[in-house]
Amino acid sequence: MQAQFLDSLAPFAWPLESSDLAVACGRVADHRESLLPAERLALADVGTVRADAYSSGRRVAHEALRGINIDGCAVGKHGRVPVWPSGVVGSITHSRALAIAVVARRKRFAALGVDVEPFGRISRRVAERVLSERERSRLVDDSWRTLLFSAKEAVYKALNPLTGEFLAFRDVEIVHGDGRFTARTTRPCASTAAIAAGEGFFLAAYDHWLTLFVCRSGAAVLPASAASDASGETAPTRSDRVA
Ligand SMILES: CC(C)(COP(=O)(O)OP(=O)(O)OC[C@H]1O[C@@H](n2cnc3c(N)ncnc32)[C@H](O)[C@@H]1OP(=O)(O)O)[C@@H](O)C(=O)NCCC(=O)NCCS
Repeated sequence: MQAQFLDSLAPFAWPLESSDLAVACGRVADHRESLLPAERLALADVGTVRADAYSSGRRVAHEALRGINIDGCAVGKHGRVPVWPSGVVGSITHSRALAIAVVARRKRFAALGVDVEPFGRISRRVAERVLSERERSRLVDDSWRTLLFSAKEAVYKALNPLTGEFLAFRDVEIVHGDGRFTARTTRPCASTAAIAAGEGFFLAAYDHWLTLFVCRSGAAVLPASAASDASGETAPTRSDRVA
């Protein structure tokens, strides 16, 4: 995995070997000067906090794209779902402090989802809503509530652009191991097989949980529409965002 760490951030690594995959990480600040003309359109009528998050996300997305030898391409949006250059899949995340993007060639990866959450983001009360009883019974410590929440968001960000399907937090269950996790759906849905075949990774860095969920290309388990996306050049077509 190619990796770029901006703004003097210490390097981290997920154990995922592929020269067709790249990550970039930077601090959230006003990076509007990094935006390409097509990306600036999204800034009309947004406040400073959103402009910082958006511009920082696009900045690390450009860096990650350079890691797979793509330069000067805008990352568009459909609803809020990022639209990547043809032949590429990717994902963006930002907290108040950090922005991370992961990109890959579609010939190797059909879907990627990345998420970052500050330690302690998920209270016990929220955990009761977003985690199953079994998930809560396996927590290593209270901070892992946030880790499991983040893993679910990474799964959603990988699968939603492929399937257009909304998944609630209780629709997906996470089983964590040592730096890795797997996910399964708790009801049959379009994403069930792809989620079961996906691979999750997590680590702690900069007082945040960082999670990544990937589905490799060529998996027969992908839904029909997703399989054609994975082999072709089409962009994601649906966004199902909840507040
Ligand atoms: C979409 C969602 C996961 C984004 O998470 P978030 O914590 O709000 O924000 P993050 O900073 O991590 O990620 C935001 C980025 O995700 C990307 N994104 C937004 N919606 C997306 C979607 N539907 N699919 C993939 N990526 C999406 C965008 O790039 C966005 O940044 P940008 O608007 O600056 O381009 C969240 O808002 C959501 O709707 N969650 C509900 C569904 C869910 O998570 N279910 C879990 C069970 S699987």
